[in-house]
Amino acid sequence: APPFLLDCDTGIDDSLALLYLLASPVANLVGITTVSGNVSAAQAAQNCLDLLEISGFEGIPVAVGAHDPLVGDFEGGVPHIHGANGVGNIELPTASASVVAESGAELIVKLADEYAGELRLVAIGPLTNLALALKLDPSLPTKISHLTIMGGAALAPGNITPVAEANIGLDPEAAAAVFAAPWPMTMVGLDVTMQQRMEEPARQRLLSSGKPVAIAIGAMLELYFEFYVNVYGHPSSALHDPLAAAIATGEVVPSLAPIVPVEIDATLGIGRGQTIADLRGQFRGYPLIEGAHCAVVLRVDEDFSPMLVDRILSL
Ligand code: BDR
Ligand code: CA
Repeated sequence: APPFLLDCDTGIDDSLALLYLLASPVANLVGITTVSGNVSAAQAAQNCLDLLEISGFEGIPVAVGAHDPLVGDFEGGVPHIHGANGVGNIELPTASASVVAESGAELIVKLADEYAGELRLVAIGPLTNLALALKLDPSLPTKISHLTIMGGAALAPGNITPVAEANIGLDPEAAAAVFAAPWPMTMVGLDVTMQQRMEEPARQRLLSSGKPVAIAIGAMLELYFEFYVNVYGHPSSALHDPLAAAIATGEVVPSLAPIVPVEIDATLGIGRGQTIADLRGQFRGYPLIEGAHCAVVLRVDEDFSPMLVDRILSL
């Protein structure tokens, strides 16, 4: 299976993405880097270590990445959505393993060299580590097989401002650098992630499985489900990060994902953090625009939740 590196701000849906990749028969997770977003980068790394250990995985390096965005300071996370500890305030058994000495950006560069031409990046938090890795090694885009990000909103509204999705809006300068770099990439944004939900019966399946990992996930999802009452009108959850992971492995194939220019608004106005995808002509069948290198996922027809639950139960 091809090598994958996960860059994350773990986070409840990040936890789902991590477990999805661990359980995937077509992904070999070779590294994890963390960034501040849902929680601090340090807390996100601890959560990853704890999840790896209860899932029985050893030896996957976890590197703490950027604490602050490129401009400004980390603002403390979203305890009302992901819990103060990022995993819905449940207590995971503390892992015996610890983080590696490299920074997040350093580990990305190192693994890109080790698996040159093969490494697939999945970024499901603010894009700070990738921007820093690009500064360390400007040739990084030529060494990466593919980058898939959960972030942005092409046609859908934002979730932290009317136009900005969290992973872009928390570090627009980093996002601008990442979208401008010439790697083949896929943007899995709110356009599709808001349509993919896990409902209460699926959460109950996890809780009643008798399996420690699945039970932990079911328990941490309680808080996330409560948050989404504001959005969907009943307890439920959007499957942002795990959907991006499944699209990255190729196990979920989008039914509409045109390759178009995407620019990030990194100005200080009301558009800050917007992903501006040039979709003009896409629906009239215009040809590929020269230089465009980002597939913007606009439609996924599959119902992803059952597949995700089966995966977690397989661990
Ligand atoms: C994204 O923001 C985070 O809170 C989630 O983990 C996901 O990566 C959704 O906007
Ligand atoms: Ca995330």
